[in-house]
Amino acid sequence: MANVAVVGAQWGDEGKGKIVDWLSSRADVVVRFQGGHNAGHTLVINGVTYKLSLLPSGVVRQNKLSIVGNGVVFDPWAFIREVNSIKEQGVDVSPANLLVAENVPLILPVHGAVDRAREEARGAGKIGTTGRGIGPAYEDKVARRAIRLCDLTDEAVLKEKVEALLAHHNLILRGLGAAEMTPADLLDPLREITPQVLPYASVVWKKLDELRRAGKRILFEGAQGSMLDIDHGTYPYVTSSNTVAGNAAAGSGMGPRAVGYVLGICKAYTTRVGSGPFPTELFDEVGDMIGQRGREFGTVTGRKRRCGWFDAVMVRQAIKTGGIDGIALTKLDVLDGFDEIKVCVGYRLDGQELDYLPANAAAQARVEPIYETFEGWKDSTQGARSWAELPAQAVKYVRHVEELIQAPVALLSTSPERDDTILMNDPFQD
Ligand code: GDP
Ligand code: IMO
Ligand code: MG
Repeated sequence: MANVAVVGAQWGDEGKGKIVDWLSSRADVVVRFQGGHNAGHTLVINGVTYKLSLLPSGVVRQNKLSIVGNGVVFDPWAFIREVNSIKEQGVDVSPANLLVAENVPLILPVHGAVDRAREEARGAGKIGTTGRGIGPAYEDKVARRAIRLCDLTDEAVLKEKVEALLAHHNLILRGLGAAEMTPADLLDPLREITPQVLPYASVVWKKLDELRRAGKRILFEGAQGSMLDIDHGTYPYVTSSNTVAGNAAAGSGMGPRAVGYVLGICKAYTTRVGSGPFPTELFDEVGDMIGQRGREFGTVTGRKRRCGWFDAVMVRQAIKTGGIDGIALTKLDVLDGFDEIKVCVGYRLDGQELDYLPANAAAQARVEPIYETFEGWKDSTQGARSWAELPAQAVKYVRHVEELIQAPVALLSTSPERDDTILMNDPFQD
């Protein structure tokens, strides 16, 4: 029985949360394996909206186990806030259905402070991070100075680790002209939150192994998207983790064969939030129209998302670098009513045509899109739940996208609502 990994195939916000929630009816376990509370995943179920940042999107369904894997960077305060707010919405959340890997590295207040101070120092060259401390927390993990969830059990060890951590970060904060932090600034709030988070700590790799042996279906939930991947994205305008499905195994404590079918999520157009190259970005009223219809404002920071046409070159690249088996195409309804719809099928750079996005940042900023233009459709696709309900031109568009990206469309989404989803190929049965 195959497991499924859901990953973003553009610059994030593709609708992963909606698709993970929909697919979780077919799964037993949902695991987050990278990123942190920089993610913002929106679910709409019978008109009720749930916004999740750190919790796996399976958490709203009953009788599913949700897991935060070791590959995530974990802010304990954000976690408890989110647990409480989702409980207030009537969702049953407790250590009985939500576990956090005991070896997950923590995001502490100093990480947010360094993240924001660095962004300010970068000025116009800023990355446009979410300011949540994601980058500095991953740096500490790789530098082997991170404080992990399992370190909260021993006050004496924790104190030593916090002092060592601050010896490093205060140098940076001082250099950036930002306020330094004392050990008490970290230890006091940690002392308060520890009894609330420790009950969720678990030996996740062992639990997942048991579940797998028992034949349970596992759904891995990616955050961000391929073009924000630390290796394969538009570096340095990326996040600080591998967002591709290859990381689902390492980020949860399983082997690569556990990952199964890789479902890439992409919008029928493109958006990006934060700085960095975006070849098909639109600066005209068409871009504004897409943004308005698609309600393209960030879930986490409320920032306006940049909008543009579908970039088949980029998505094809995401499919190859991420081993994507099939696509869930979301927000098709947002393209309803356009006279014409464009799709990027190649790039032009210094008089040459390219069929991929080069790695060099300056080249990425200079490539010009080569477009194919499609006739739009006047009928609505909004809320369509079967292939037969789609206008002929919309079907043609989807079929052509499949050809250009060299992967099948397994799912189609036609509104934010959970059930406004068309299944063409069940990833769990593939
Ligand atoms: P994620 O980060 O990939 O989970 O995506 P977000 O939740 O940040 O952004 C996607 C937004 O689009 C959310 O507000 C969803 O409710 C909404 N959405 C998802 N699928 C569709 C769709 O097919 N049509 C429309 N109109 N909205 C959708
Ligand atoms: P979901 O899971 C869209 C972007 C930020 C910034 C860059 C680095 O909702 O798709 P970071 O705070 O991670 O260091 O910021 O990455 N970014 C996202 N953009 N969707 C996300 O998550 C994102 N998470 C980070 O805007 O450009
Ligand atoms: Mg999002």
